[in-house]
Amino acid sequence: MTISHLSITQLRNIVSAELSPSSGVNLIYGANGSGKTSTLEALSVLGMGRSFRSHKYKTLINNDHDSLTVFARLQHAGGAVVPIGVSRHRGGDSTFRVAGDNVHSAAALAAHLPIQVINSHTYELLEGSPKSRRQFIDWLVFHVEPQFYPLWKAAQRCLKHRNSLLRRDRIDRLEVTPWDVELCSLTEAIEGYRQQTLDLFQTEFKQLVSEFVAVDGLTLGYQRGWDADQDYAQHLQQSFERDCQSGYTRAGVHRADIRIKVGRQLAVDILSRGQQKLLVCAMKIAQGLVFYRQTGRRCIYLVDDLPAELDPQYRQLLAHWLHKIGSQVFVTGVEKETLLSSWQKITDVDKRVFHVEHGTVTQIDV
Ligand SMILES: Nc1ncnc2c1ncn2[C@@H]1O[C@H](COP(=O)(O)OP(=O)(O)OP(=O)(O)O)[C@@H](O)[C@H]1O
Ligand SMILES: [Mg+2]
Repeated sequence: MTISHLSITQLRNIVSAELSPSSGVNLIYGANGSGKTSTLEALSVLGMGRSFRSHKYKTLINNDHDSLTVFARLQHAGGAVVPIGVSRHRGGDSTFRVAGDNVHSAAALAAHLPIQVINSHTYELLEGSPKSRRQFIDWLVFHVEPQFYPLWKAAQRCLKHRNSLLRRDRIDRLEVTPWDVELCSLTEAIEGYRQQTLDLFQTEFKQLVSEFVAVDGLTLGYQRGWDADQDYAQHLQQSFERDCQSGYTRAGVHRADIRIKVGRQLAVDILSRGQQKLLVCAMKIAQGLVFYRQTGRRCIYLVDDLPAELDPQYRQLLAHWLHKIGSQVFVTGVEKETLLSSWQKITDVDKRVFHVEHGTVTQIDV
């Protein structure tokens, strides 16, 4: 699936733009502050309902207007064309539409337009909170296991109820028991899907990572969110008093994490910044590969400011793998030549180049 037409209205400094992207690679260049990231943010609004930069959508709306609209035509491999559109208003109203119907959640948008982002924050995946790593792995579980999302939502609801009981002054253990039972059954299912998906991910990642980071002993391990040697029901039982004292459920699928290590040390403490970025690039490519192998679909890659800290050889390696996956790619950078040189060895792909200046996006000949 690729985007064959993109229309952006009143998003940041882009008042109006119409693009006919290539199904291959789209190189977007322009000076600082011209609107390159904004162009990618428009795609992110379609795929997630919001920008990858922030949860605050109001700052995305052009200062002189009260709403933004992004619209695209999705071209599916079988030939079907699906329109998708998002409007967001300063007052809070939002409209998400897919194939002419209203949809009511960002998850529904994401199911239609799976997006991977590589930008200057990608290495935060290693040094940031477990939440970002959980989201990373759940992106893949969400896209390859349709049953996962409703279970995950149900677990969130269950935890909310359980936590509100735990915060009461006097709790009857029996009142909490039904929530524990439900949480255990949801946990088992969620955990199973995560584990299966992570196994698939590990296979791709192991093959790929040495091309990006030449460091021995790199491993990626899954922590499910409670003691490895206990079942969850047992754990909830034993930690009940402590959970009551804390006022929340301290362990569970909401605490899962992935640990990326070099030998016995965390990769974030050993690898250089550039290596961390490359490692995360390998992880993002592995995601796209698993997604493709499991679903036959390809996600769209947004690469913002083709990581400035990558040297030319690694920029070419990233381009090589993005091409190998066969995904549609949108890449930004300040200089046209740097972007073109990264894709110069890849001749069997349709490349389109767009220049951005003061919020105006123009396709140019190369
Ligand atoms: N709500 C808004 N309304 C109007 N303009 C905005 C709004 N939010 C941000 N801008 C401006 O939009 C411009 C484009 O920002 P953007 O981040 O897309 O630039 P960029 O081309 O990616 O630059 P860089 O190379 O520095 O990353 C900036 O000049 C910014 O100040
Ligand atoms: Mg930018």
